[in-house]
Amino acid sequence: MRQDMILILDMGSEQNAQLARDIRALGVYSEIHPHDIDAATLSALPNVRGVILNGGKNRVVNGRAVDAAQHVYRCGLPVLAVDHPAQGCQTLEAWPQDEAQRLDALRDFVFGRCQAQANWSAEHFLEDQVELVRRQVGDGRVLLALSGGVDSSVVAALLIRAIGDRLTCVHVNHGLLRLGESEQVVRVFGEALGANLIYVDAVDRFLGRLECVADPERKRRIIGEEFIRVFEEEARKLKGIRFLAQGTIYPDILESGTRTAGSIKAHHNVGGLPDDLTFELVEPIKMLFKDEVRAVGAALGLPQNMVYRQPFPGPGLGVRCLGAITRDRLEAVRLSDAILREEFERAGLAGKVWQYFTIVPDLRSTGVVDNRRSFDWPVIVRAVNTVDAMTATVEPLPWPLMNRLAQRIPQEVPGVNRVLYDLTPKPTGTIEWE
Ligand code: XMP
Repeated sequence: MRQDMILILDMGSEQNAQLARDIRALGVYSEIHPHDIDAATLSALPNVRGVILNGGKNRVVNGRAVDAAQHVYRCGLPVLAVDHPAQGCQTLEAWPQDEAQRLDALRDFVFGRCQAQANWSAEHFLEDQVELVRRQVGDGRVLLALSGGVDSSVVAALLIRAIGDRLTCVHVNHGLLRLGESEQVVRVFGEALGANLIYVDAVDRFLGRLECVADPERKRRIIGEEFIRVFEEEARKLKGIRFLAQGTIYPDILESGTRTAGSIKAHHNVGGLPDDLTFELVEPIKMLFKDEVRAVGAALGLPQNMVYRQPFPGPGLGVRCLGAITRDRLEAVRLSDAILREEFERAGLAGKVWQYFTIVPDLRSTGVVDNRRSFDWPVIVRAVNTVDAMTATVEPLPWPLMNRLAQRIPQEVPGVNRVLYDLTPKPTGTIEWE
């Protein structure tokens, strides 16, 4: 393994993820583990240079006061205990409030006491993961659902590098993707990278199941279930695949608690694969934060617009074509979204605003198009900023950009005569409309 590591033990602090990010920002790899890590796991972790016991007030986890096991103190590594007087190790009563002082204290520990090397980089990570995947998979074969989103794309490119055509990617086009997205998956993975790619055109099947379904929760359920059904049908056709790769990333793991199982049935993660389809999981980016996933994607040579893509919901444009989905309104969402992205790019706002997209509601209003009365749909533009998607503020878009959108969208998108801007933060609105 190429990288030194600082181990963070979760002693009840709410700042574990931030601390891990701060250490990685110093160029040193860091992982968070539960406070009661066992001796075997601790000794199996590669290149650990030091341990931080990161506590909150009085080190409480699930209402119980906790301390690290004796083997942590006896492992011979430098230990920094935060918020807790501990014997035989460096103790901080609390991280300094001042940000610069806090980073100084961290730097002193990481580079001074632990003598860690700043050797954490996307390239080293890639080399390590390629080797780890080869070790895990041996001469076996791996299956991956490749949506074209950042995470699954990075996993696909990494696995192609590790095991070549022993990876089989299944791309399900459910008709709810953005303009040109499925084509890009085929171009980048099927053609440029030479992946073993199965393209499933399931557009009619999905839109058929969604016909006349207006309830948002039912729409989401149908899209999720149908996806699993299609994926399962493809998986059954393939023989001799033991592994399922997933684009799980670190926040997914941290949000479900730091204690995670190594090998679990696929259905826990893919959200409903049947019990008789069991795979061993391959999750090469599960220790990465989103920006690190993007850096690894860039190191793998994936196209910029694939790597720096904004978040996109699983049910895709299906939750932006409000009410019962029709093909013409869905097309209006797709085309207006493409215009919006083009105009953000031109205005230098792409990558600066967290998420922006269009919505087409199921209502019409009177307008004038080409000197004739029209009775058409509005397009609603939404552009928000957020840190964690729990709350969001509205981006104050420049007026010239708004003007261009108001001109271009009704001109270029059939069936649209108005453009509206959603001024609602979250709360009271959610980011998506459905
Ligand atoms: P809301 O609408 O809940 O959205 O404020 C918060 C963030 O989550 C995204 N989102 C989803 N992502 N599957 C996903 O993977 C979903 O079903 C889903 N619904 C919403 C949304 O785009 C926003 O970034």
